[in-house]
Amino acid sequence: MDLAGKEQAISPDMAGDDHDSIRAIQWLENRLCLLDQRCLPFEERYQYPADAAAAAGAIRDMVVRGAPAIGIAAAYAVVLAARGRYAQSPHGWRGLLAEDIRVLAAARPTAVNLSWALRRMERRSATIAGDPVGELLEEARRIHTEDLAANRRMGEHGAGLIRAGDSVLTHCNTGSLATGGYGTALGVIRSAWRAGKLNRVFAGETRPWLQGARLTAWELTRDRIPVTLITDNAAAYLMQTQQVQWVIVGADRVTANGDVINKIGTYNLAINCRHHGVGFMVVAPCSTLDFTLDDGQAVEIEQRAADEVLNLAGRRIAADGATAWNPAFDITPSRLVDYLVTENGVIQAPDTQQLATLKPPSL
Ligand code: MRU
Repeated sequence: MDLAGKEQAISPDMAGDDHDSIRAIQWLENRLCLLDQRCLPFEERYQYPADAAAAAGAIRDMVVRGAPAIGIAAAYAVVLAARGRYAQSPHGWRGLLAEDIRVLAAARPTAVNLSWALRRMERRSATIAGDPVGELLEEARRIHTEDLAANRRMGEHGAGLIRAGDSVLTHCNTGSLATGGYGTALGVIRSAWRAGKLNRVFAGETRPWLQGARLTAWELTRDRIPVTLITDNAAAYLMQTQQVQWVIVGADRVTANGDVINKIGTYNLAINCRHHGVGFMVVAPCSTLDFTLDDGQAVEIEQRAADEVLNLAGRRIAADGATAWNPAFDITPSRLVDYLVTENGVIQAPDTQQLATLKPPSL
């Protein structure tokens, strides 16, 4: 095992550092505060959406992104909305709030955490008499802290599968920026790094939005975990040259049979893993499970603007006249998944029967 990189990274001044210093979503002085991920890695700028429409815009425009993070941001946005609606109509706020919840739910279609968190907030609001703000804020905070706790548990479960000296490749950004903190796949990488198990961490740049190059690389360097970027095209060769033993990814939705809907390019990686005998690990909290769908084919895959492909950093790079097809996610069949790691346990070779043994997400 070559631990040279790690010994360099861990210096005495970081004793006690658990490689987890970033929070993208905060509730500060009665406001929702979002770290604007469109500006990273160059600038740390914050946005404070004032109501449901502004929060829905922030989700749609990727100020906040990542399946658990958009669920948490939407839960806090319900608090903002309830504050406005109660002031507007102390008796009719619930009906008005239902409209705000519909606006938030429509912001992005693929990640199920968004509708899960909104359903949980709506159910809570149905039980409240009088001013709803305090109790809804408690519920949003609970959703946030439960996510963080789930990520830490998944980190331990996933790191337990990794052997000392393994190297890993991850895709997109699944870290503190994409969750309530710590991360899903990146949480496993954090835990495995802290346990001294990892040799190298590779991150795919994740065209077209570059979540890997801009966000994962920023987050890992910030938290002093050395990272090596590759182009997405280099993944198969990385595996062929036996430089990684695992690909570890998150999920936007996992259907009842274990199909995984995640960032475009995940399916390529899963096929390549099977071909090269590299382990394929999916890390997702139970709030990402969707037992209402038998398999992944029924999931709406978000199509994003062609400009994300045709342009780079605001400048056109494609030949004039070219158009682009830009699906944001793809569907990995469960038969390609070696391990599904959740906070409630690890499933090897997931299928419908095994998934049914997981505790369903609380509502
Ligand atoms: O389009 P994005 O950046 O929101 O996509 C994010 C992903 O695909 C992540 O892998 C997924 O949400 C899991 S994050 C914990």
